[in-house]
Amino acid sequence: MKKQKSSIIPNKKVQHLPFKIGQCTICHTEKNGNKNGNKYAHSKEQPDLCYMCHKRKDTKSRVHGPVAAGMCTSCHDPHQENHRFRLFADRRFDLCVTCHADKKEWVVKVKNKHGAVKIENRCLNCHDPHVSENEKFLKKTTSMDICLSCLNKKIKREEDGTILMNMNKHLDENPDWHATKDLPHHIRKYMKFGKIKAPLRYIPAKTGGSCAPM
Ligand code: HEC
Ligand code: HEC
Ligand code: HEC
Ligand code: HEC
Ligand code: HEC
Repeated sequence: MKKQKSSIIPNKKVQHLPFKIGQCTICHTEKNGNKNGNKYAHSKEQPDLCYMCHKRKDTKSRVHGPVAAGMCTSCHDPHQENHRFRLFADRRFDLCVTCHADKKEWVVKVKNKHGAVKIENRCLNCHDPHVSENEKFLKKTTSMDICLSCLNKKIKREEDGTILMNMNKHLDENPDWHATKDLPHHIRKYMKFGKIKAPLRYIPAKTGGSCAPM
């Protein structure tokens, strides 16, 4: 959560247009404020304050906790910030893990990191920050679609330049989306067939390796 009070001296990189042009009284009413001795009382409460000018962010079936609570300013500064969209931290990772600290711990701790958490939009590669029709605010209907949106082609690994195969055929064997404790490539030690747990015999190779059960 945001800890500091929002600064009103215009000294940050990303300024909200109504703030920048001095339209303070759209959001703050002096009328109520003066009565209560608070010059900066709000003309409307959040999120209605934001929805005066922005499209609603809660119109899909699943709404992210702080958005559902109407707390836009738990992520966005209403005046100015140094990060894109006036978020209080970089939107791709730092923002998410201030609240989801367990995810940071997990990603830092595990040996075999999932490239998807490190590249491009990081957490936002897969999750929408506001709303979604999908479980866990995923950007695609199923987890499989999420994987295939990247792994539908050969991909060069950042770390060592090896080429990842097209994962289409490989999906059942890759059930942990963030990182795994066990084997490289997020492969688990076991593979599930209904109720049966078959141990995997992972043999690494330059092209990825094989996972035939024992
Ligand atoms: C887009 C709406 C919006 C505009 C425009 C805006 N503010 Fe704000 N302001 C807010 C919100 C929302 C908060 C509460 C922030 C929070 O809860 O983190 C706030 C908080 C403040 C506070 C802190 C008050 C307190 O008690 O913590 C001050 C001071 C302030 N604004 C002054 C200004 C001034 C001066 C301007 C114009 C230069 C301005 N604001 C423009 C929405 C706005
Ligand atoms: C008086 C109208 C007004 C209000 C109220 C308002 N905004 Fe804005 N907001 C704007 C305008 C104008 C822009 C600039 C749009 C642009 O540059 O495309 C903007 C831009 C933004 C952006 C960046 C969008 C982008 O694509 O870069 C975010 C995020 C945002 N506002 C969030 C909020 C939040 C959160 C609140 C409530 C605390 C809020 N706004 C209240 C008018 C408003
Ligand atoms: C959990 C943090 C979080 C909360 C809470 C949040 N946002 Fe955002 N918002 C983001 C992130 C992250 C982005 C950048 C999305 C991207 O890069 O695709 C964003 C982008 C935006 C944008 C610009 C792009 C767009 O999607 O239109 C607007 C406008 C915006 N938010 C408004 C709001 C409003 C209004 C609220 C409150 C109802 C709100 N946000 C609450 C994290 C948040
Ligand atoms: C201001 C705090 C805050 C920030 C920042 C934040 N979240 Fe959340 N997130 C929450 C809360 C609160 C919940 C609801 C927890 C619950 O219902 O158990 C939640 C729930 C989730 C869930 C669903 C969890 C579940 O088990 O169903 C996902 C996925 C998620 N957030 C992803 C993200 C991503 C991705 C980002 C960065 C764009 C992010 N969050 C940033 C507070 C935050
Ligand atoms: C490669 C896509 C992908 C990326 C990148 C990703 N996630 Fe997820 N995330 C998922 C999927 C898929 C699920 C649902 C897993 C399930 O239902 O078991 C999920 C579930 C979650 C959940 C709810 C369940 C749980 O495990 O706590 C949270 C919270 C979450 N992700 C946060 C994050 C954060 C924060 C980041 C960035 C550090 C991130 N995710 C990056 C795909 C991704």
